[in-house]
Amino acid sequence: MKIIRTARSMAAWSQRLRREGVIIGFVPTMGALHDGHRSLVRAARLQCDALVVSIFVNPTQFSANEDLSSYPRPIARDRALCREEGVDACFEPTALDMYPEGFQTTVTVPALSRRWEGEARPHHFAGVSTVVTKLFGIAQPHLALFGQKDYQQSLLVRQLVRDLDLGVTIHVRPTVRERDGLAMSSRNVYLSPHERRIAPLLFQALQAGRQMIMSGVSDVAAIERIMRKTIEQVPAIHVEYLAVCDPESLEPLSVVLARAVLLGAVRIGAIRLIDNLLVKMPGGKSRAMS
Ligand code: PAJ
Repeated sequence: MKIIRTARSMAAWSQRLRREGVIIGFVPTMGALHDGHRSLVRAARLQCDALVVSIFVNPTQFSANEDLSSYPRPIARDRALCREEGVDACFEPTALDMYPEGFQTTVTVPALSRRWEGEARPHHFAGVSTVVTKLFGIAQPHLALFGQKDYQQSLLVRQLVRDLDLGVTIHVRPTVRERDGLAMSSRNVYLSPHERRIAPLLFQALQAGRQMIMSGVSDVAAIERIMRKTIEQVPAIHVEYLAVCDPESLEPLSVVLARAVLLGAVRIGAIRLIDNLLVKMPGGKSRAMS
């Protein structure tokens, strides 16, 4: 596996392969890789000739009060996972290489960035959209894989690829969970044993919401009440938002008609956790997806 440290050499590598007709697959990450990342890498491996994984803890998507400096960086383990999964190139740029002096441009996707994670983390999505656009420009993939775990991010990436004609096919893969339902996340390692025990409540709340919809309840206020109640039984876990939204626009719904996405964010101590479930109303052949 090649380890590529500069944008220039990454672009040269991809250009050469593209000229030879090689299909390039790409999985952008911030490292601290777990089985959620692994599932993206495995799915990508099956769909391309050359597979690139980027590991870059992107400073511009963290706010000043967030965990940029303490974000886990187990680079040797990450590279081992990439090797195991048959990755061809691991792109590990420095922040200075990505954002040299004089860097000015920001890509924003305003409507999709406004709510939910965007409200809680004001500069987050501008940082994500800009770095993803740059990474696509550098790695020049034919296809790129993202996780449903970050549902709002995945919509945003699809939108910017469409709007800017980036010519990258986006695949979104299901959320990989621990046995008790907690969505895998690089930040789960920060949870104390007690916090870890209560963390699956977020998924349980979303499941409770999904069950209500599946049993025919369409009144969003009632669904949100039950979801909130599921979490509020434990005082150490605080709801930031629990919402039933349109799965494309992310606007809140008042009534579930056909499809919805249930979005949730909670805080346990200093840790924020997010999760989501997609739901299709029963009727015809439709059924719940996760
Ligand atoms: P990171 O949090 O490292 O996630 C990289 C990719 O893995 C994202 O597409 C994310 O949705 C996916 N992922 C994370 N947890 C997952 C899980 N439990 N199941 C399935 N997929 C999961 O997301 C980012 O990095 C950054 O914002 C990035 C896109 C790399 C831009 O900096």
